[in-house]
Amino acid sequence: MSHHMTKNHPDSPNGQDDISKNDSGNPTIHEIIDIRLSRRGLLKGGAGMVAGGFMSMGLSACVSDSSKTATTAKGFSLGFTAVAKSLNDVLSVPTGYTASILYRTGDPINGATPAYVNDGTDTAASFDFRAGDHHDGMAYFGMASGGSGMDLNNSSRGIVCMNHENINQQFLHTAAEAGVGFSTAARVAAQIDKEVNAHGVSVIEISKAGGTFSVNTASTYNRRLTAASDMDIYGPARGDTLMVTSYSNAGQKTRGTLNNCAMGITPWGTYLTCEENWAGYFKRPASGGLSAKMATAQNRYIGSSSSNGSYGWANPTGGDTSGTGLYDRWNINLTGADATADYRYAANTFGWVVEIDPFAPASIPRKRTALGRFGHEGAMPAPAVAGKPVVFYMGDDSRGEYIYKYVSTANWSSADVGGGLAAGNKYLDDGKFYVAKFNSDGSGSWVELNIANPTISGYATYAFANQADVLINCRLAADAVGATPMDRPEWTGVNPSTGDIYITLTNNSDRGKTGTTTGGKSRGLDAANPRYYSDLKGAATQTGNVNGHIIRIRESAKDHSATTFQWDIYLFGAEAGADATNINVSSLTADNDFSSPDGLWFSRAVPGLMWLQTDDGAYTDVTNCMMLAALPGTMGDGAATTITNTAVPANGNANQTVATIAGKKATTDTLRRFLVGPKGCEITGITETPDGQTIFVNIQHPGENTALADVASNTTASFESHWPDGGNARPRSATVVITKNGGGLIGS
Ligand code: FEO
Ligand code: CA
Ligand code: CA
Ligand code: CA
Repeated sequence: MSHHMTKNHPDSPNGQDDISKNDSGNPTIHEIIDIRLSRRGLLKGGAGMVAGGFMSMGLSACVSDSSKTATTAKGFSLGFTAVAKSLNDVLSVPTGYTASILYRTGDPINGATPAYVNDGTDTAASFDFRAGDHHDGMAYFGMASGGSGMDLNNSSRGIVCMNHENINQQFLHTAAEAGVGFSTAARVAAQIDKEVNAHGVSVIEISKAGGTFSVNTASTYNRRLTAASDMDIYGPARGDTLMVTSYSNAGQKTRGTLNNCAMGITPWGTYLTCEENWAGYFKRPASGGLSAKMATAQNRYIGSSSSNGSYGWANPTGGDTSGTGLYDRWNINLTGADATADYRYAANTFGWVVEIDPFAPASIPRKRTALGRFGHEGAMPAPAVAGKPVVFYMGDDSRGEYIYKYVSTANWSSADVGGGLAAGNKYLDDGKFYVAKFNSDGSGSWVELNIANPTISGYATYAFANQADVLINCRLAADAVGATPMDRPEWTGVNPSTGDIYITLTNNSDRGKTGTTTGGKSRGLDAANPRYYSDLKGAATQTGNVNGHIIRIRESAKDHSATTFQWDIYLFGAEAGADATNINVSSLTADNDFSSPDGLWFSRAVPGLMWLQTDDGAYTDVTNCMMLAALPGTMGDGAATTITNTAVPANGNANQTVATIAGKKATTDTLRRFLVGPKGCEITGITETPDGQTIFVNIQHPGENTALADVASNTTASFESHWPDGGNARPRSATVVITKNGGGLIGS
């Protein structure tokens, strides 16, 4: 089964996208903190240099209307030749740029671990010291050149934190094992262990020598966190009865972080990894034995099914003989006398934003429950401002799910830079948690999800016990207050030049269909989700919002803790040849047409430069997934627009006209294709060195559509991809390093 089929595409057989899935984009830490001190030496002396300067760095409009060539406030313009769409098994970058491989699935992170054989014989245990699979969101934290500690402006040495979202199961095991197959009803325990260990997060030190970056396998900062690693639970749900398991009767700990999709960086210098498609991994009851309340919660997050879960991790042959519930923890059936004796609430310990301190390798990551539980795509911060709350924007990637925001109670103080997880306790464990509502007139509001709201405490569908329950089951609380169901919210990003918030809405095959979805959410059109249409992929008809769009928010008075905002639709995904009035609304051309925007990330080195990455399955008859560079203008730079959606009789709908607000139409000066990936991949995850002269981009799951039978028979010629190693090799996810020949800002 493929990553796309299981997780990213709306019409997956097991419906995981109906459940949850999430990635977040991200300002790098450089966007948030502008400091030059080593982290451990900082303390109060370094206070003054932080975020204050951040907002002052350019509130003028990004894009000049007066000249044909768009530039940022600082005079940056896109200067490369657009990369053509491609179906080849290669990574394409513009002429004059060089891409090299940094870190592939299986690459060792210490000197004791042998090179990856990549034929399925590499051991499960070795994955505690190898790159995991499915590289996703990541962030570069500059390190001091000599010794240890933080120097966020260092462009030649840093720690990269990187998510490993999922696995290409067929390539993790031997041909003989592939021949037997991977029935979810009975798994070989060692295969489960390898799959568990290939998930999670990498923390790796990298440095540049002779102009080339490589992983320092001798670094004491290097570590892998997997779906088995110890995790602490923090915030309002810590110790709640709904977090109790046989592993932690106190409800304060769990094992593993899972489906780490997009990410975030905190102003104090830690990494946030976000758990997206965890829901499908659990062996779950068909509802027998569940209380009505438990069934409601399970249906809203996981679905009512007797499935063994995506990979059958709860079903080792011969049962769980670990003595510690290592496999039983994936089974949320009621098997014990009460919650202290089984794992009925284990799924409540996933679906969180998890904080990792890259500079404290012995620290245990903390799941921050104040930021809500859902299919977290990512958690991108607004620029930190002294004396103001710290704010994070978050998408819940599933059809018809919501956009959320967290506003800390504590006001930001730069004295906390370098404060690690203790600073996290201050800012991430106590705050207000909001969901977004979009009105048809271009206004919107953030509705706080708090048990004190009678609409929530009195919700007929689900009786919330307390605020912990509201956070654990925030989708239900958001349903109660009438949040706006969106076309699969993915990454978020805040433009440092304008303060505008951008959120990718990747696609939604449900949009425009008649009837309702699980959870009762509307599939109807609205101003913020205004399109349905039909599009051919080869001979297959695809319907709904096939190509996705990107919504843009401006908080009232540009205050990120505001509870009201204005919005417009910055950009509509489309094929260049699609109907120019109602589908290709943004006037995309061959140089910049795309489908299914997912990764979205603002450079710090070049304020106003945005990168856009695709996770597409709709336009892949024409091109592999891609990355584009954008100079995205400002909120309100377009015009009121009417979209006439043509009936798709198969969906039961009729012609329907929707009034919306579109951003300024794209040109090749404001949006240009920079990269196209190899076959079967998704482009996701990007970070940069602080000087803007090196970017790191993740190529996820090349060759994912390769048939298990071809692996079993070692019919390598039939593998969808051999990237990056070529020849007959099994494909591998990988981080690539991209530089401009002769130096210079990437994209210029
Ligand atoms: Fe893991 Fe929504 O992408
Ligand atoms: Ca996606
Ligand atoms: Ca994603
Ligand atoms: Ca098409």
